[in-house]
Amino acid sequence: KITKIHAREVLDSRGNPTVEAELTINENCTGKAIVPSGASTGEKEAVELRDGDLKRYNGKGVVQAVNNVNSIIAAHLKGKSIGSQMELDNHMIELDGTPNKSKLGANAILAVSMAYAKAMALLRNIPLYRQLKDANEYVMPVPCMNVINGGRHADNNVDFQEFMIAPHNAPSFREAIRMGEETFHSLKSILNKKGYFTGVGDEGGFAPNLKSNEEAVEVILEAIVKAGYKPGEDISVCLDPATSEMWEDGQYVFFKSTQEKISSQQLLDIWAKWISQYPIVLLEDGMAENDWEGWEIMTKQLGGTIELVGDDIFCTNPGILIKGIKQGVANSILIKLNQIGTVSETLETIDLAYQHGYNCFISHRSGETEDTTIADLAVATSAGHIKTGSGCRSERIAKFNQLLRIEEELGIAAKFQGIKAFKNK
Ligand code: PGA
Ligand code: ZN
Repeated sequence: KITKIHAREVLDSRGNPTVEAELTINENCTGKAIVPSGASTGEKEAVELRDGDLKRYNGKGVVQAVNNVNSIIAAHLKGKSIGSQMELDNHMIELDGTPNKSKLGANAILAVSMAYAKAMALLRNIPLYRQLKDANEYVMPVPCMNVINGGRHADNNVDFQEFMIAPHNAPSFREAIRMGEETFHSLKSILNKKGYFTGVGDEGGFAPNLKSNEEAVEVILEAIVKAGYKPGEDISVCLDPATSEMWEDGQYVFFKSTQEKISSQQLLDIWAKWISQYPIVLLEDGMAENDWEGWEIMTKQLGGTIELVGDDIFCTNPGILIKGIKQGVANSILIKLNQIGTVSETLETIDLAYQHGYNCFISHRSGETEDTTIADLAVATSAGHIKTGSGCRSERIAKFNQLLRIEEELGIAAKFQGIKAFKNK
């Protein structure tokens, strides 16, 4: 029986307010969860309720969302015996009554939804990943580490948002993360030597001003070699250019560097060239969320070669994913809990993706916290890969540390797929 629900306003890694919720079952099992927040958000994401009161946190306060938990949601759920995650989430979805959770706020609803999963894990005395999905074996994810930040995540001149390294030629997560960190540190010394700035962006990747977007990939390849690894064989590159941010009047604008405008076809030509030139295994949001035609053409041309992940276009939404599957868009989906707003809908989207042969790529947001739920989610769903930032900043490392703990606890029940975690590999 739910005996207590309480929320408060806390802060995320950018210093913006976000919602933390505590949910208690049977007086003594309390789960606590904090929701993250994006910057390059998809248009169809569930609504993150912000106060808009300019006298507090530039309008970004979440007092209303917190009050919705403490009054409306708590009043409805307190004293209830809830049989499952889905039952809890359906109560809140009904209570909200809107298609995009705009009344109570997806930040309010998700905080409670995640806190419930954690409280149930405590009650049953099992780890969170097992509460999310019970299995005999679990796949540990390849950490796709975002070592160079651009786009809306950094104040540099790089148009594309994320340049990731995927250390896949490893026997375990523990070894993969070591390879990734060694490369991260070698990248820092290379940037330093070239006279580039080594301050980091929102997700902990370096954010230098570079001569071109290509140079970002080239310095990464140099760093892989300097760290003693072989590009492609040991460590590959993943990209999230977040092109919805570049989309303007049917064209793609290099909004941070040259201001040049190109068509979908020209952008696709760039990706085809990059893929033939560099060891790229995954491309997320290679086309914009409102460029479905571009997405279809890109999937036809490149969908048999690499993993094409839909983030902004799908928004972790099962309804939109179905449409994408029917239209031949992407072969993988990015999974962000707060894009859809409940744990059970997130799991539903993941199931749907797997049923149709799509991969799932579990993701943090650019505004994160010490909450590590996504580490458990990646293991629970055996998604095979996760992106949760670079090799520094504690809100990113918290997830890696949780994965290290999980792998140790699982022992031989933990598998590591390496390169096979990626579509077409
Ligand atoms: P966001 O960025 O959290 O700012 O939306 C992450 C992404 O685009 O994948
Ligand atoms: Zn993205």
